[in-house]
Amino acid sequence: MSNHAIVVEQTGGLDAMSWKEVETLEPGSGEIRIRHHAIGLNFIDTYFRSGLYPATTPFTPGNEGAGEVIAVADDVTRFRVGDRVAYTIGLGGYAEERNLPADRAVAIPDGVSYELAAVAMLKGLTARYLLCETYKVTKDDTILFHAASGGVGLIAGQIARHIGARVIGTASKGKHDLAKAHGYDELIDYNNEDFVQRVKTLTDGTLCDAVYDSVGRTTLMKSLDCLRPRGFLVSFGQSSGKVEPFDLGLLSQKGSLYVTRPTLYHYIADRQSLDEAASQMFGWLADGTVKIEIGQRFALKDAAEAHRALEARETKGASILLPD
Ligand SMILES: NC(=O)c1ccc[n+]([C@@H]2O[C@H](COP(=O)([O-])OP(=O)(O)OC[C@H]3O[C@@H](n4cnc5c(N)ncnc54)[C@H](OP(=O)(O)O)[C@@H]3O)[C@@H](O)[C@H]2O)c1
Repeated sequence: MSNHAIVVEQTGGLDAMSWKEVETLEPGSGEIRIRHHAIGLNFIDTYFRSGLYPATTPFTPGNEGAGEVIAVADDVTRFRVGDRVAYTIGLGGYAEERNLPADRAVAIPDGVSYELAAVAMLKGLTARYLLCETYKVTKDDTILFHAASGGVGLIAGQIARHIGARVIGTASKGKHDLAKAHGYDELIDYNNEDFVQRVKTLTDGTLCDAVYDSVGRTTLMKSLDCLRPRGFLVSFGQSSGKVEPFDLGLLSQKGSLYVTRPTLYHYIADRQSLDEAASQMFGWLADGTVKIEIGQRFALKDAAEAHRALEARETKGASILLPD
């Protein structure tokens, strides 16, 4: 069967992505070949396409997906042809078929669809490690989570509710009801309201134990002002642009604050961490703790339209790309 993929020859705008027939290689040592059934769309894909994050060209974007194993290298024992698997790794996802290391794939449990499994891997595992590992949220905490109605945001709200924390979200106005239905206690329209002031009011001046900021340039400095003394800022993305460098002395002035800039791949670097993270996430999907609604579906070959919608803030929740 022929294989097609989105290829970026040179980084840039939406037209940097083209739909091409690509060579089908046999899986190399330790690899499996999968035929995608669903591919997760993520904001990080736009960073690679635009050149904000470096990648050697030409490349195929896409960091998460799910599909059926269609070939395995002789030395692979973990999977067999016909198995359903999901993964998150750097690049290569926007393709009908792809090879990937078997030790980076996880089996999809019965009852979990390819679509949900694809979205659970990067967006789901991110929400999980942020709240359960980077800063361990407790039931006594109040946290602020920016972009509450995004792909990661809607999953994070449900995990925070499961933990029992109070969770305040920010989002564009038309997306508040959705976030409330996914665990958020209060929503702030950060495009039109001073979110620092609203956080002060909502918490009677006690502020937040942790702030999760993936918006970056337009929010990060104000996020520091939403933290109690010795509070924890998790800067995990830059949807509005790169964060400007700042003087570390500010952290002491603002209350001996902690700041970290984590990335998922350091939290699932070894097989045991990947298995534990995926098994907890799939468990939450199975028992209904986390419900993931797919907000948008795009044909894989229309990835440019998907990027346009994501960057224009038109999407809600998770988006996926579907091969024909
Ligand atoms: N570090 C990690 O391990 C890691 C892993 C996965 C994702 N991430 C980061 O997490 C964030 C969320 O990822 P996602 O894929 O789930 O995306 P998303 O949240 O579905 O989409 C981004 C959202 O950010 C908000 N936003 C605020 N200012 C924006 C601007 N100027 N331009 C575009 N959007 C803006 C928009 O929501 P409103 O309209 O409500 O403002 C938009 O829908 C991204 O920054 C991503 O890079 C980090």
